Amino acid sequence: MIETVNPKGLSPAKRMESILLFSRAQLRNEKNLTANLANLSAIIALYMEDLNWAGFYLMNEGELVLGPFQGKPACNRIAIGSGVCGTAVAEGKTQRVDDVLALDNHIACDAASRSELVVPIRQDGEILGVLDLDSPSLARFTDLEQSAMEELVRLLEETL
Ligand code: SME
Repeated sequence: MIETVNPKGLSPAKRMESILLFSRAQLRNEKNLTANLANLSAIIALYMEDLNWAGFYLMNEGELVLGPFQGKPACNRIAIGSGVCGTAVAEGKTQRVDDVLALDNHIACDAASRSELVVPIRQDGEILGVLDLDSPSLARFTDLEQSAMEELVRLLEETL
């Protein structure tokens, strides 16, 4: 178990530093993917404010299937190209959406979600899945947070 610190009062930059610090510690001691995804989603939920969902979808037989997460129960399966997560897989790049209601193909697992950040995860050049963060606030995610989540996924990829 890693020792976390109380996030109360931390700046967004310190929150991102904490996520990366504790994620590095977690990933150094464990190679099991399920264990790592479960703890990474818990670390993100602990340190980031104003999220209603944080977790992972993993590729399985040509579609995304729900993985470890923190938040309300969510859609089990997402088709490639569908919603923000499926678009991240289809385009092979991070999606940062300031207002999901402006999208034609948004999948509303939770009607409270207004903005999303989705980062693809690769193993041997193939997409293994995505990290998905949802917020009830419009334009919740900043450049700082996008960079930190991309770095987090890079750290995870090093364990694969
Ligand atoms: N809204 C996502 C689906 C997943 S959940 O919100 C947890 C999307 O559009 O891909």
